[in-house]
Amino acid sequence: MPTRSTVILGTGSYAPERILSNEDLAHMVDTSDEWIRTRTGIRERRIAAPDEAPSDMGVRAAQRALDDAGVRPAEIDLLIVATVTPDMPMPACACIIQHKLGVPTTAACFDLNAACSGFVYSLDTACAMLTSGRYRKALVIGVEKLSAVLDWQDRTTCVLFGDGAGATVIGLSDEPNVGLIGTRLGTSGAEANLLYISHGGTRSPATTESIAARDHCIRMKGKEIFKLAVRAMDETARDILEQHGVRADQISLVIPHQANLRIIEAISQYLELPMERFFVNVDRYGNTSAASIPIALDEARRSGRIKAGDLTLLVAFGAGLTYGSALIRW
Ligand SMILES: CC(C)(COP(=O)(O)OP(=O)(O)OC[C@H]1O[C@@H](n2cnc3c(N)ncnc32)[C@H](O)[C@@H]1OP(=O)(O)O)[C@@H](O)C(=O)NCCC(=O)NCCS
Repeated sequence: MPTRSTVILGTGSYAPERILSNEDLAHMVDTSDEWIRTRTGIRERRIAAPDEAPSDMGVRAAQRALDDAGVRPAEIDLLIVATVTPDMPMPACACIIQHKLGVPTTAACFDLNAACSGFVYSLDTACAMLTSGRYRKALVIGVEKLSAVLDWQDRTTCVLFGDGAGATVIGLSDEPNVGLIGTRLGTSGAEANLLYISHGGTRSPATTESIAARDHCIRMKGKEIFKLAVRAMDETARDILEQHGVRADQISLVIPHQANLRIIEAISQYLELPMERFFVNVDRYGNTSAASIPIALDEARRSGRIKAGDLTLLVAFGAGLTYGSALIRW
């Protein structure tokens, strides 16, 4: 029996109301709008309300994706939430979202932690489970409340990240050569020490001292990460293009992880694809980790930058280190 295609039936996103500008940050730490803009391309980011949990944001994005797809929550039998900032360590954010959305209790629901590559990893997982024939419709959500794990006294990290959610509904199609054409995923755990949250897990549970030292916040070696991000994203993009016999100039739109405009510009140069073929919204959201690609995907679709027949390339990189790419025909 030929394998059925997995297609994106709808997309949605949600950004919290509160905007934190670079100017606002300059009142909080020793930084400036000029420094942040020239080093990262970020102008502002969204910050979730104190009582707004990742599950709340995920539900808002999911409802928009379901509306877009014309699919009811009752039809979902697989729900994957990519996140490094779930509501709580246990149970999974996906379980909380399942209940809030009204997804049936017969659905498989779980979280996936692959940091900023989380959405591409989850997309691959969902598509593999759908093509197994045991699931029919999947909801894949990327959501982060990174503001809750940022050290607001550390200018080297707090200016880079933001909160938000993006979602996609995925189904099966008998039409060949559409939907998810392929994925490449990779990991380099040797560099786990470049981007991490050291405390609050089980190896080093939170203590009064660790909280005072803000050890439950994101720590990063930015310069090293920058170089590895460019190399890994370039390589994974080249690998997937080669694997599927696609030339870079056949890609209508690249949706890269939105960490830093300079990283995206470097990939554009390496792939010899002009910046017009790259979707960029890092200026408005900063780095929203697992939410970054699904938010960008939703905005790209709604702004008419993706048309039927187009080839889109997703490219991600994140803590782990993890990286991955996905090729989609619309
Ligand atoms: C973090 C990053 C923006 C720094 O840019 P950079 O070009 O490497 O930084 P520069 O070398 O120009 O500047 C470093 C200096 O700026 C200072 N600096 C850091 N953050 C600053 C800020 N927000 N405002 C002002 N100065 C800052 C540093 O203390 C350092 O000062 P020093 O030279 O006196 O030690 C960049 O390395 C980066 O984006 N890395 C990737 C991070 C990332 O995307 N992580 C997530 C991956 S999923």
